[in-house]
Amino acid sequence: MAGAPVTAAAHAAGPEAAAITKVWVLNGPNLGRLGAREPEVYGKADFGALQADCRRWGARLGFEVDVRQTDSEAQLVAWLHDAADAAIPVVLNPAAFTHYSYALRDAVAQVPVVIEVHISNPAAREEFRQTSVISAVATGTIAGFGFGSYYLALSALRRLAASA
Ligand code: DQA
Repeated sequence: MAGAPVTAAAHAAGPEAAAITKVWVLNGPNLGRLGAREPEVYGKADFGALQADCRRWGARLGFEVDVRQTDSEAQLVAWLHDAADAAIPVVLNPAAFTHYSYALRDAVAQVPVVIEVHISNPAAREEFRQTSVISAVATGTIAGFGFGSYYLALSALRRLAASA
């Protein structure tokens, strides 16, 4: 838990409770194109709207939420390393990397709490989307609820913090 803010009360409640104040919401390739990209699949709202939603939902749940997006696998891996070192829980939409990136999987495996999210329900789409190389090393997966998948993931983190 190096780098996590630890108070006496939080420490008594357990290490996970001490860790969950900041949450990072990390998004992979093409999610910066929300709104313009296949609106019939991903909706008409853009990435800025997703950022605003996540920050608002996070604040309501008591989290300081940082919402980022990159098209770069290396950048996503670097952010996950930073999250691992600082013990910051992550909500992760790996986008297409979900289906084939073992580098991302190995990075996710180093972070204590990662909720995998998807806007669409990949299990109900093309065959290549029905494999996630991330799910087995994620804390849990939420898919198919539009931007609501992120709300459900943040709520799940709140429950995890409360039960730690
Ligand atoms: C996605 C689903 C992936 O299959 C796809 O490559 C994405 C978005 C989703 O949020 O539904 O880019 O992760």
